[in-house]
Amino acid sequence: MERRTFLRAGLALAAGAGAGAAGLGGISVLPELEAEPRRSGGALRLNSNENPLGLAPAARRAVIDGIPEANRYPGSMREQLIEALAAKHGVSNESIVLGNGSTEVLQMTVQGMAAPGGRLILAEPTFEDVPWYAEPFTYRLEAVPLDSRYAHDLQRMRDRVPERSERTLVYICNPNNPTGTLTSSAEVDAWVESAPDNVYFIVDEAYYEYVDDPGYWSSVKWIETRPNVIVVRSFSKIYGMAGMRLGYGIAHPDTAARLREFIGKNNANHLALVAALASLSDLELVDRSLESNARALQITHECLEELDLEYVPTQTSFLMHRINGDLDTYRERMRERDVLVGRPFPPMLSYNRLSLGTPDEMERWADVLRSFRAKGWV
Ligand SMILES: Cc1ncc(COP(=O)(O)O)c(C=O)c1O
Repeated sequence: MERRTFLRAGLALAAGAGAGAAGLGGISVLPELEAEPRRSGGALRLNSNENPLGLAPAARRAVIDGIPEANRYPGSMREQLIEALAAKHGVSNESIVLGNGSTEVLQMTVQGMAAPGGRLILAEPTFEDVPWYAEPFTYRLEAVPLDSRYAHDLQRMRDRVPERSERTLVYICNPNNPTGTLTSSAEVDAWVESAPDNVYFIVDEAYYEYVDDPGYWSSVKWIETRPNVIVVRSFSKIYGMAGMRLGYGIAHPDTAARLREFIGKNNANHLALVAALASLSDLELVDRSLESNARALQITHECLEELDLEYVPTQTSFLMHRINGDLDTYRERMRERDVLVGRPFPPMLSYNRLSLGTPDEMERWADVLRSFRAKGWV
């Protein structure tokens, strides 16, 4: 399309979009605020651990209200969110490091802690971003298989810490992605308590809010006394903000200062900041997400049990289940039916990681899976 035609088409679209509203200035934003999240071209997105309920109503309103300030750098909004997060966790403002998604905090940590002869100890399988960020550095990678309950095998991980004083980074994804399983917080505490200063822990709590298990608690308790603990949280999951990009790290002020040396300047955008701040006070979305997730999980369990497909009990918004066949073929067949699922997590290649959608979406997925069984595909 020629540039001029393209521009005209764009203007026509914009005019169409405004037709249902009262026009800018007196714009009625209510339809946008109340709209259900879009389902990309009708496909079910059960592949990226996103919250299907979308932004909290208060966050949507804050985004609209925040647009007139979006031409300014986000300095003062950063300060407000940092203060709110510090109050939420009972830490000082200096302990909070904002990220463009929690993945940026993982990146800052991997970069900030890199040292000659350094090691990175992690579970297998686990979330892939940390080893990916480590690739350009000289980290020696030590991947330790999860134990028989799909928890981190902390004893075997401890055995990989070198005798000498090389910098060691330990990544504990708790709950673990892709398995949705927990590692005992008491056991994490025991290691943190006895670890020397050169062993740094990244405890990734992206799915913290979903967990309902008395043996699980946050590692934030360590950050005042242990500069070697970095806790990572995300607004992408329970708060439904994956596309807005906001996460944060919580660490001892000295450690947080080190991470900030690797931060992208002004890294959290204004609209994400206002949405996050509003989300913190809209707890209704958290309750609604947990309720919807529990119902979606029940539907998923019922289908998998009916088809006798083993699954890993989850504490999150996703789960791993057997597929009785080749993973790529399974994903492709699902995709042909407009259902996007999983990605490979070696060595668990006979399992698919399924992100939970709404209960209705899981009914649709279950119907497709049942049709696969009828064809003998699963
Ligand atoms: C365990 C874990 N940590 C971190 C992230 C990164 O999330 P974000 O950068 O959207 O906050 C994800 C995303 O799926 C995740 O599963």
